[in-house]
Amino acid sequence: MLLKYGLIGSSGKMGKEVIDFFTEKGHEMVYSMDINGETMTAEPDILIDFSLASAFEKTIETAYRLKKPLIMGTTGLTKQNMKDLKKLSKQIPVIYSTNFSIGIQLMICMAEFMKKNTDEWDIGISEIHHRFKKDKPSGTANTLCQALGGGIEINSQRLGNIAGEHTVSFASLGEVITITHRALSRRTFAEGVLQSAYFLIGKPSGMYTFRQVIVGEGNGNGQL
Ligand SMILES: NC(=O)c1ccc[n+]([C@@H]2O[C@H](COP(=O)([O-])OP(=O)(O)OC[C@H]3O[C@@H](n4cnc5c(N)ncnc54)[C@H](OP(=O)(O)O)[C@@H]3O)[C@@H](O)[C@H]2O)c1
Repeated sequence: MLLKYGLIGSSGKMGKEVIDFFTEKGHEMVYSMDINGETMTAEPDILIDFSLASAFEKTIETAYRLKKPLIMGTTGLTKQNMKDLKKLSKQIPVIYSTNFSIGIQLMICMAEFMKKNTDEWDIGISEIHHRFKKDKPSGTANTLCQALGGGIEINSQRLGNIAGEHTVSFASLGEVITITHRALSRRTFAEGVLQSAYFLIGKPSGMYTFRQVIVGEGNGNGQL
């Protein structure tokens, strides 16, 4: 099925990646918005947001106005933003994920397994991203922390043009296990967004997660 999609944050790094990947697959962008305003040539089947947390109000307003399923990829959202997103999901289907890579979902499952089976081990999280990233720590690091029960120290670095690197370490006094995920390019996120679009179109209103798309479990209440 070829999609007509709307994109908020269309001139950003992720926005451009979504356009490149979706165009390659034959999907058509019919609505776009960036800081300079919006353009619409037809009604979209789905709305995708990779903008900035500071643009959140505009995104919510647009989603209420167009009433199309929303895929939200912007990180750094506040607790109030999350409440507003949940309220929106009473009217339209919404999927929110701080990381649309399949590998990160699998990494979270592995980390949860480790946590269940390593009482008393220390846990640490570190992340490295490109120098332009605005939020710190990354949304993915926060999601990993939340999945492991919270209260874990997160070490963040901003270096060069790195698309995203996350490591979780588990250590006892005698051994250490580290799980590292590297996004080699932003294309991987665009692929996850397309899978999410197919999942979301036709679903009843509600809050869904990328974990449900990839591993078919989860209740939609978190950000996994
Ligand atoms: N969930 C995931 O898998 C994933 C993966 C990668 C990144 N992200 C997140 O996606 C977001 C975008 O990342 P990026 O690297 O693409 O950032 P970016 O290059 O800075 O792009 C941000 C985009 O938002 C637009 N924008 C800024 N203020 C706006 C406003 N008030 N109204 C409408 N549009 C506005 C910008 O427009 P201008 O260009 O005109 O300023 C630009 O198009 C970040 O939150 C990032 O953490 C998520």
